[in-house]
Amino acid sequence: MSNADRCVNIADLEREARRRLPAPLFDYIAGGSDDEVTLKRNVSAYDGLAFVPNFVRDIRTLDLSCTVLGRKLDWPLILAPTGMSKLFHQDGEKGVAQEAERAGAGYSLSTMGTASIEEIAATSRGMKMFQLYPLNDPGLNRAIIQRTREAGFDALCVTVDCIVAGNRERDLRSGMTVPPKLTLSSIAKFASKPAWCIDYLFGDAFSLPNIGDSNSHGSASTLTAYFAEKMESNITWAMLEAIAREWGGPLAIKGLQSPQDALLAANCGASAVVVSNHGGRQLDGAAATIESLPAIVDAVGGRMEVIVDGGIRRGSHMAKALALGANACMIGRPYLYGLSAFGARGVRRSLEILRSELERTCALLGCATLAELTPDKVQPVNEWRSHSGTADRDAISLRQIVR
Ligand code: GLV
Repeated sequence: MSNADRCVNIADLEREARRRLPAPLFDYIAGGSDDEVTLKRNVSAYDGLAFVPNFVRDIRTLDLSCTVLGRKLDWPLILAPTGMSKLFHQDGEKGVAQEAERAGAGYSLSTMGTASIEEIAATSRGMKMFQLYPLNDPGLNRAIIQRTREAGFDALCVTVDCIVAGNRERDLRSGMTVPPKLTLSSIAKFASKPAWCIDYLFGDAFSLPNIGDSNSHGSASTLTAYFAEKMESNITWAMLEAIAREWGGPLAIKGLQSPQDALLAANCGASAVVVSNHGGRQLDGAAATIESLPAIVDAVGGRMEVIVDGGIRRGSHMAKALALGANACMIGRPYLYGLSAFGARGVRRSLEILRSELERTCALLGCATLAELTPDKVQPVNEWRSHSGTADRDAISLRQIVR
């Protein structure tokens, strides 16, 4: 049994990632903004929902397949766009995309990816989406969209919640830069992780090929400076409409948290909304995404697909989100922990874990298909308390009747 196989849940993969990565890189993945309230709430809010299972159902053949953004998936999962994957392991985005295809899940490549649009197209025939951060160079945005189309990607995903960089205090403390820069204070943190150092030093030089940035020997910037220099800080609905027209295929708008914004996204030609607070890395104090989801599902009323990310660490979390109306879930940290710990093998393990947890949860809920995973399969814990109070009262009166 490999070390990856010894990990039985995502928390085990996180622990192994912490063991292998230099602290500034682990903190870059794991951290959020300000007090990390939203980061924690994204996860803990799932505990505020209780399942209502149905038994005595035929669940021998589970079919969790679905169609998202025009492509069939074996199960409703898309690997979220995460930047700079080769920093964590040289298997990088290519390894992640291959594992997503192998698992029958979707993959999204980030604008800030360390593999190019063309490399990913050549590497995977699975469902592929390119994530565009609108950059403050319209010509570059257009060129990226054209490359994405020519490479045969299935969908485009525009992220709108990074008009300024979130206040990531772990990165400020660790001196995390893009690319990572060795300073006297950080060198010990890197040197104490020799496996990572060998992989990084002998691997491909750092570059961000989707924005034409081969910055491997150039100056390193803090994330805040990098965002300020490159990202569009005035994204407008007209701009998104123009992107939708220019792209002409399935389009997701990622980073929305309000029903009004979701409706505006539908009006500007989006086929999906990704309910996301950027993994608690942007606006701290924002609601957990599982809390934002139901109102958005109600508002869009089937006009668009709804994808949700943030806080998913278990297949049971996926089941809750799907029951509340999500068409698919996205994960970032869970697969990045696998990648950081064990390369592509760790990504595979993270997907095996989540898939088997989701299947077990569906079976125990009495749901053989996603269509059966309906909102009545979950209820808020508070409601459950009052409901169980009623149930107790009913049981008492029943006992009195029987007596
Ligand atoms: C980039 O998307 C980040 O969250 O660091």
